[in-house]
Amino acid sequence: MSWFNWKRNFRVGEESDGVGAVGILGTGAYVPEKVLTNADLEKMVDTNDEWIVSRTGIRERRIAAPDQASSDLAVKAAERALAHAGLTADQLDLIIVATVTPDMSFPATACLVQDKLGASKAATFDLSAACTGFLYGVSTAAQFIQTGMYKYALVIGVECLSRIVDWSDRNTCVLFGDGAGAAVLGPVEDGYGFLSYELGGDGSGQDLLKLEAGGSRKPASQQTLDERLHFIYMNGREVFKFAVRVLGNATEEALAKAGLGKHDIDFLIPHQANIRIIESAVKRFGLTEDKVVVNLDRYGNMSSASVPVALDEAVKSGKIKKGDTLALCGFGGGLTWGAAILKWALD
Ligand code: ACO
Repeated sequence: MSWFNWKRNFRVGEESDGVGAVGILGTGAYVPEKVLTNADLEKMVDTNDEWIVSRTGIRERRIAAPDQASSDLAVKAAERALAHAGLTADQLDLIIVATVTPDMSFPATACLVQDKLGASKAATFDLSAACTGFLYGVSTAAQFIQTGMYKYALVIGVECLSRIVDWSDRNTCVLFGDGAGAAVLGPVEDGYGFLSYELGGDGSGQDLLKLEAGGSRKPASQQTLDERLHFIYMNGREVFKFAVRVLGNATEEALAKAGLGKHDIDFLIPHQANIRIIESAVKRFGLTEDKVVVNLDRYGNMSSASVPVALDEAVKSGKIKKGDTLALCGFGGGLTWGAAILKWALD
């Protein structure tokens, strides 16, 4: 970044003084073309379609092409979100990429996305909150806009989980998929946009869901390869219990902070890990099926991409109207969880 741009980025309030409300100006999504069905998985591990559908709700998932990495998926979703928002990349002040599958440890995938988009004045960083990444991302980006430091931020949730799935482990390989979802955030009309956030973490659950090797504690070695420590490990049963508890609690907390109750939810857009987890939240809030956005049957669990892809699909289908109250919620590795209440600002 040139000296001129550096100064420009730090002149607080230059472009958006005294922002009242912050919301989503555009959404976009991209999933790779290759479809991996439950029938395909039956040929790879000891599993069957009936088990996968009844225990998870997942029927198929997308797999990135060999030459695609997370930044490639992210750029496609970002371009669609920018087009929807009617903005160009050079108007972005900030890019946050939420992912557990960055192209590489560093530089940040957000830098690669910035370069590919040509978002020359944007600050860039990655955010690691596993499946809660998009919720952490929008909460973070919104603060920059609220303070007047920045005007437009791009938040992307992207994963190539197929690269860290152990394709010989039936406990995990049936669950995950690849994809990217993006949202452009900026100032919106007063009374609209994000009304509240609820974020949480509990590192005591760090061992329930992890990719153990490749970091500073267990750098890649022949031993870590032999022990298959470069793949996702998950204690499914414990994560399930945790997820059922926090998904409802976080959403309830966020609703209370917004001065709303469960009857105010027009659409629930939950993290797409398991249909039984989503159903528990639906039951708790007394929602009808048409008020819940579900796409895990087609994509599986795309971690940080699940919520923004589901949001984009609901928006583009015309389901969501200006003034609707959306409850976005998620949970994941860390352990982490989050929810945000959003009054939809677009016509
Ligand atoms: N096909 C057939 N059988 C299987 C499969 C499979 N793919 N996977 C497991 N089984 C077997 C198990 O071996 C077990 O057999 P056993 O009783 O002989 O030991 C049996 O099915 C039941 O296993 P459970 O683990 O009890 O199954 P459960 O009903 O809990 O479902 C699941 C497992 C789907 C993983 C569930 O626990 C779950 O969804 N957990 C939450 C996962 C999640 O939400 N992750 C989100 C975070 S992801 C992130 O942050 C990146």
